[in-house]
Amino acid sequence: MILQGKDIEKSFGGLKALNGVSFELGNNEVLGIIGPNGAGKSTLFNIICGVYSPTKGSIHFEGKNITGLKPHDIARLGIARTFQIAHAFRDMTVLDNILTALGIDEYNGIVSMFKLAKKSDTVESAMSYIELLDLKDAANKKAGELSLGMMRRLEIARALALRPKVLMLDEPCAGLSYDDADEFINLISMLKGQKISIMMVEHNMNVAMRACDRLVVLNFGEKIAEGTPNEIQNDPLVIEAYLGKEE
Ligand SMILES: Nc1ncnc2c1ncn2[C@@H]1O[C@H](COP(=O)(O)OP(=O)(O)OP(=O)(O)O)[C@@H](O)[C@H]1O
Ligand SMILES: [Mg+2]
Repeated sequence: MILQGKDIEKSFGGLKALNGVSFELGNNEVLGIIGPNGAGKSTLFNIICGVYSPTKGSIHFEGKNITGLKPHDIARLGIARTFQIAHAFRDMTVLDNILTALGIDEYNGIVSMFKLAKKSDTVESAMSYIELLDLKDAANKKAGELSLGMMRRLEIARALALRPKVLMLDEPCAGLSYDDADEFINLISMLKGQKISIMMVEHNMNVAMRACDRLVVLNFGEKIAEGTPNEIQNDPLVIEAYLGKEE
């Protein structure tokens, strides 16, 4: 197990967005967090990444309590995330976007970041992520010119450039075409071969079922089920909470 959440509670004023949620992410596992609108998926994700502090409970990474650490400290420890709304620098090329991400290990402010980017082994390393994410033809295009599918891949390339142990994906398939979503599922299985653990928030049940080894289902801030996609698919509580609403 690489990442663990214990009894996480998060209140926003009078609203309990999360109520006693626990989860475990195994080494080299793809764990999906699913559930209807407002279930608390993004809140859980943001607590893990340090955007919010939990009202109660704790997060442990490689056995170490990381609850309440700042987002950049959590990133540095080895938990990288993508954002639901693409955060790439739109006026920079794909290559420069990844070079910028590669600077984080020696980050001392923007100047050293760009000095580092000039080293050719850094460029080589950036190109390896570009190839991995099938962005070679777009390497010198500005990020702002990319299709949504490519932009999402750039986001993942930037996250991978941080050499994370855990990759957190925030609704990676939102807005993607069927073909792009399909390609994404292939990408996830490819990444699984690379000694990385993945946790993804996914609204699309079909994508979650196909991409994830195991699913945690949230509803109204509580974990209502947990198991393999097959187990989840047949769980009456899940059908009632999730599938029932979809139909
Ligand atoms: N910053 C906030 N302030 C107040 N309430 C919030 C805040 N963030 C989330 N909430 C509330 O907490 C609950 C859970 O929201 P959350 O965004 O985690 O749900 P979600 O499962 O990600 O839903 P969706 O599928 O719609 O993205 C919702 O009722 C939401 O309105
Ligand atoms: Mg959400």
